Amino acid sequence: MTYEILKIADNDGILTVTITREKALNALNRQTFDELEHFFNNALTDYPQMTGIILTGAGPKSFAAGADISEFLTLGKDGAAKMSRRGQVIFDKIEYFPKPVIAAVNGFALGGGCELAMACHMRIASENARFGQPEVNLGILPGYGGTQRLTQLVGKGKAMELLLTADMVKAPEALALGLVNHVVPAEELLAKATGILKKIATKGPLAVARSIQCVNANFDETKNGYDEEVKAFGEISNTQDFIEGATAFLEKRAPNFTGK
Ligand code: COA
Repeated sequence: MTYEILKIADNDGILTVTITREKALNALNRQTFDELEHFFNNALTDYPQMTGIILTGAGPKSFAAGADISEFLTLGKDGAAKMSRRGQVIFDKIEYFPKPVIAAVNGFALGGGCELAMACHMRIASENARFGQPEVNLGILPGYGGTQRLTQLVGKGKAMELLLTADMVKAPEALALGLVNHVVPAEELLAKATGILKKIATKGPLAVARSIQCVNANFDETKNGYDEEVKAFGEISNTQDFIEGATAFLEKRAPNFTGK
């Protein structure tokens, strides 16, 4: 697939994926979803040396200002439910992606944009970032997992408040709520996300992937997170990477992980 909306830059295995609909504040239209779906379905094979992904929006104003409202009106009940399910499947793919995915939130993260950021493993916000689920302003509600992930991240009471009032949260409050991991000046946003991914790239990749899986299991009612952890711990203990990591520690040198 040739990407027209996503711009992908590969810097030594760290992929920066930028949504480039700046004039529409990077609103997520159908094509953006198609490209996100294709990208996350193929990234591991298309970029075999990849160690992590930064997701961001073009321009200084917006990460993504929601699903594209201009595509909403004609959907109908079945069409809307289908769109909601498809968005959830694509965002689940991000949440379960075995390499770390960081949202670098460079402005508005509203509606589907906030849901997209919440599907990422971490969120770094620029000081001008604004978060919110303003769907009730339109007489609708989040459809891409927002009611669930917001509740997971900020707790039931605050999630209720944000979902029912459509209030926007500024970056410092988002930090206090646990909605974002760090707030930095806009010019340091990508460097901060890159620094975190570079640090993770020095760790055992299989252990990183299984840690993502185990954390997600905590929120998956079909799984027992403790059992997932026991299983992962047993399997990881039987890898070359674990032997290398433990040996390197004992030999007082940096490990050379191979992902095997
Ligand atoms: N879908 C489609 N287009 C959108 C959009 C969205 N979610 N959000 C912004 N845009 C478009 C605007 O229509 C406008 O297009 P135009 O220049 O052709 O008129 C352009 O992006 C700039 O937006 P504008 O509203 O002029 O910028 P602003 O700085 O005055 O306000 C926001 C910024 C984010 C507060 C405002 O755009 C907004 O409320 N957007 C909708 C957010 C939302 O409800 N998201 C959830 C959707 S379910």
